[in-house]
Amino acid sequence: MTLRYIALLVVGLVVLTCKTWAAVDVSMEDRVEVSLKDQAEIPCIYTLQEPALMIVWFTKLPGKDQGRIRIYYYDNQTEIIEEGSDYAERIKVSHSYDTHDARGTAILTIDKVELSDQREFICMVHNVLKESGEGRTHLQVFKSPSMPVIEGTYGGISVTEEKPSKVANCKVDDGYPRPNITWYKDRFPLQPSDGEVKITESQTIKTNGLFALESQLFIKVIRKDEDAVFYCEVQYFVPGASRMVESQPINITVFYPTTELTVSINSPKMLIKEGDTVEIHCEGNGNPQPLLTFIHKGEPAENANNEILTLKDVKRSDSGTYECQILDLEGYNEDIVESSIDITVHYLDDIVVTPEETDLDQGYDLTLTCNALSSLPTNTTWYKDGMPLEKRHVLELRNASYNTSGMYTCKVMVPSLPELQKQKSVQINVRGKPEITEWTAVGPMNKADHSATLTCSAQGYPLPNISLSAFERRTNKIVPVSIVKNQNTDTVVVSMTGSVEATSELTANCIAYNEFGTVNASHDIEAIAHVKTTTQATSTKATGFTVTPKQPHKGGSGVAIAVIIICLLLIAILGSVLYFLYKKGKLPCGRSGKQDFTKEKASKDDIVMEMKSGKSEEAVLLQGVNGDKKSPTE
Ligand SMILES: *[C@@H]1O[C@H](CO)[C@@H](O)[C@H](O)[C@H]1NC(C)=O
Ligand SMILES: *[C@@H]1O[C@H](CO)[C@@H](O)[C@H](O)[C@H]1NC(C)=O
Ligand SMILES: *[C@@H]1O[C@H](CO)[C@@H](O)[C@H](O)[C@H]1NC(C)=O
Ligand SMILES: *[C@@H]1O[C@H](CO)[C@@H](O)[C@H](O)[C@H]1NC(C)=O
Ligand SMILES: *[C@@H]1O[C@H](CO)[C@@H](O)[C@H](O)[C@H]1NC(C)=O
Ligand SMILES: *[C@@H]1O[C@H](CO)[C@@H](O)[C@H](O)[C@H]1NC(C)=O
Ligand SMILES: *[C@@H]1O[C@H](CO)[C@@H](O)[C@H](O)[C@H]1NC(C)=O
Ligand SMILES: *[C@@H]1O[C@H](CO)[C@@H](O)[C@H](O)[C@H]1NC(C)=O
Repeated sequence: MTLRYIALLVVGLVVLTCKTWAAVDVSMEDRVEVSLKDQAEIPCIYTLQEPALMIVWFTKLPGKDQGRIRIYYYDNQTEIIEEGSDYAERIKVSHSYDTHDARGTAILTIDKVELSDQREFICMVHNVLKESGEGRTHLQVFKSPSMPVIEGTYGGISVTEEKPSKVANCKVDDGYPRPNITWYKDRFPLQPSDGEVKITESQTIKTNGLFALESQLFIKVIRKDEDAVFYCEVQYFVPGASRMVESQPINITVFYPTTELTVSINSPKMLIKEGDTVEIHCEGNGNPQPLLTFIHKGEPAENANNEILTLKDVKRSDSGTYECQILDLEGYNEDIVESSIDITVHYLDDIVVTPEETDLDQGYDLTLTCNALSSLPTNTTWYKDGMPLEKRHVLELRNASYNTSGMYTCKVMVPSLPELQKQKSVQINVRGKPEITEWTAVGPMNKADHSATLTCSAQGYPLPNISLSAFERRTNKIVPVSIVKNQNTDTVVVSMTGSVEATSELTANCIAYNEFGTVNASHDIEAIAHVKTTTQATSTKATGFTVTPKQPHKGGSGVAIAVIIICLLLIAILGSVLYFLYKKGKLPCGRSGKQDFTKEKASKDDIVMEMKSGKSEEAVLLQGVNGDKKSPTE
């Protein structure tokens, strides 16, 4: 019995306690999150059959010894916002009641949330029986920090440092709650590790309650770190989420010792020739570059700009080995020290032609040699007046004639280095007695102009002297020849043009002479008749020869026969007429037609004759009035 009573009592007590504890059912969120300066809304929901009789809001700072502070009171008739509290100006509460759900709501709104608003807000609800219930919400305030600012270490970091060296500094400001900083190297987060990575962090709580954070990264750098990028990342919370932001990436300069030197030249493929500018580069594999020096033939080279040695206008004496060395070996491994390169400066010396200048006699042989010293294989070509003769360095001239005379040029080329080429010329003169190469007499043109033009060219070396002369064939009287032109056409040929008055039959002479002999050629010039005579004189005899144009023997005799027949016919006709008149007795005595006859003959002779004397001694009769036919010497 007693047990049953006790049990009932316990149940009753429990029911009573529960009922007392939960007289009014109030529900609130545990935590409301809000950004600094924003508006916070804290709802308080209760379940009652009628609207709450009284609602009171308190705040409570964290900490056990902190008491509640009333900030708001509300009943049927009155609404009181506590004067003088932090919230007097910033809060309001909106009330509503839903009869159907038997549920009431009071929403506390706080404007311009401060960091100091981070505390508990308690909502106490009384029913009409003056029973109460309460709920509480923690208000959490957030402030996003500023962009992180990273600053790398200027200057280099040596890999030889024994302890981790400072790589960068990362700063972030004005965050709440405290943000976190994480360091990254090439996208991988860095964790502090013994002797390799060290991270120090310092935080400041500013007077406004916000956090300023500074983190420093120290690492023991390795050579590969020169290509690495470092950055810091800041993680922070915002209402309902977490965020992160990365700093700019930075590079660091890593110093590491040189263990090897590499020497190269600017144009490794091309051959070097005298006069070129050559750059020799020496590079160490360390950072920074060590102080370097170039050694050539045991002497430090001048014109070196640490890692670059510039050799201007190189000479063959600049050939040889160039060693690159570290100037100050202190702190370097003795094994490395030097590297070298061999340079060959190629050359082509001036050409030597033997013999240098030569006069040689006709019929003789001559061997010309052309030599030029070169460090590379050469090709030699002989030219005469621009025409290639021989592709070798020896040129043999056999049985010299005047044709052999001229300027001989030897060109030496280096096929593997085409810019390397030289040439030299030598004048060859073939000595000998003169030879007449052209001898013409043109004219007289007509009865009015009796002048005939004489042109004589002769070759020989030394250059022959030419003289033109003429004499009257009948009387042997000298007729003066006036010289119109006297010129050297080249080193072997000389040419002279003269004019003579051919009022009667003349013989013109061209005499060419030098110390080796004389050559003599002549032309007959007919008076009055329009005659053009050309002779190709080829003389080999010192005494010379005379060219006498012969009577045209084929066409000439035909014409003569025709003329004679015509004359005979005319005489026959004249005879018959005379006889007829005589018979009639009408002819007066003492008249002659001789003058008319000669006139007629002269007009028939008005033709052009071109005669060529020589081997064939062929004479050609050409018919034509103007006489502008080409000379056969052309
Ligand atoms: C509250 O107001 C209601 C009507 O609005 C009234 O019936 C009730 O008596 C009031 N209670 C108090 C305590 O004044
Ligand atoms: C910062 O790091 C701590 C410890 O790792 C962690 O508890 C906290 O949530 C982090 N904060 C942020 C904003 O990520
Ligand atoms: C790192 O350095 C390299 C060369 O020194 C440069 O090209 C690159 O832009 C740098 N990167 C950063 C993030 O500074
Ligand atoms: C140089 O001469 C050689 C032989 O004489 C010949 O084979 C070669 O083709 C020549 N080279 C040139 C570039 O003329
Ligand atoms: C040399 O040339 C001349 C003509 O110029 C010729 O008559 C002679 O036979 C030649 N002599 C030799 C050895 O070839
Ligand atoms: C000289 O050259 C001319 C043409 O230039 C030629 O007709 C003649 O045969 C040559 N004489 C000799 C001896 O080579
Ligand atoms: C050619 O004539 C010049 C003057 O016109 C003279 O000085 C020279 O001696 C002459 N040469 C010969 C071989 O006679
Ligand atoms: C050249 O020939 C003419 C005529 O045959 C002659 O009168 C003269 O004396 C000759 N001259 C020489 C130098 O042989």
